[in-house]
Amino acid sequence: MLENATRFYKTMQRRKTIREFSDRPVARAVIEQYSLAAGTAPSGANHQPWHFAVIESPSIKQQIRLAAEAEELDFYTRRAPPDWKEALAPLGTDAEKPFLETAPYLIVIFGQKHSEFDDGLRLKNYYVPESVNIATGFLIAALHHSGLATLTHTPSPMGFLNEICGRSKDEKPYILLVVGYPAEHCQVPNILKNRFTILHLFYRQCFNYGQSPIVPKNDTYSKAEIYSP
Ligand SMILES: Cc1cc2nc3c(=O)[nH]c(=O)nc-3n(C[C@H](O)[C@H](O)[C@H](O)COP(=O)(O)O)c2cc1C
Repeated sequence: MLENATRFYKTMQRRKTIREFSDRPVARAVIEQYSLAAGTAPSGANHQPWHFAVIESPSIKQQIRLAAEAEELDFYTRRAPPDWKEALAPLGTDAEKPFLETAPYLIVIFGQKHSEFDDGLRLKNYYVPESVNIATGFLIAALHHSGLATLTHTPSPMGFLNEICGRSKDEKPYILLVVGYPAEHCQVPNILKNRFTILHLFYRQCFNYGQSPIVPKNDTYSKAEIYSP
C-alpha cells in the first residue's frame, strides 16, 4: 500500500498546469471515459450537480477565445488590483489566450442549483460548489493519469459561457478546462509545492459497537470494500 501511495504521489507530482498547447488530436472516446470517471465523484445527496460541456468545434472554441480575451483584457488593464497582478506575474499570464483555439478540447464545468430530469422531476441540489470542485479534481487527475495536460482557466466573469454553450442562467460555469498535449516549446514555471509542513495526526478511537449511533436501519447496506489497484 505504501508503494501505491508513493507511486500515486510521484504521478501527481508530475502534473503541471500548461499554457501552451499543441493541436495534436485526442480521441473523443478518451475524453468521454475520463468525463465518466469524473462523474463518479462524491456529491451532496448524490445529486451530481454538474454538467460537463465538452467542446471540440473550432468555431465554438473561437467564440470562447474572443469572449474570454475581451474579459481578460479588461481584467489585466482595468479591474485587477495590484496585489493580484503581482501574484500572477511569476506565472507569466496575460490577456492573450491562443490555447483556447489550439487545444483539441475545452471542457466547461457547470454547477447546477437544481437538477431537472426527463420525467419532469426537479430537485434542489446541495453542496453544489463542493461537489463540482471535487468532480473537477477527479477530472484533472484522471486526464493527467492518461498523459494529457490541462489548464484550469477562470476568465472572469464567465457568464458568456452560458450563452455560448446554450446552458440556462440557473447554471454557473466554474472552470474552463483546457485539455490536450503541451506544445513542443511549452515551458512551465518552477514553482514550489507542499510548502506547508504536513501535520500527521493519527487518532485511534475505540468504538463500543453495541452503542454505536450508526446502525443499519435495514439491509440496504453493503460491506465497504478496500480498493485494490
Ligand atoms: C480555481 C483555479 C483557477 C485558475 N485560473 C487560472 C487562470 O485563469 N489562468 C491561468 O493561467 N491559470 C489558472 N489557474 C492555474 C494556477 O495558476 C496553477 O494551478 C498554479 O499556478 C499552480 O500550478 P500547477 O497547476 O502547475 O501546479 C487556476 C487554478 C485554479 C485552481
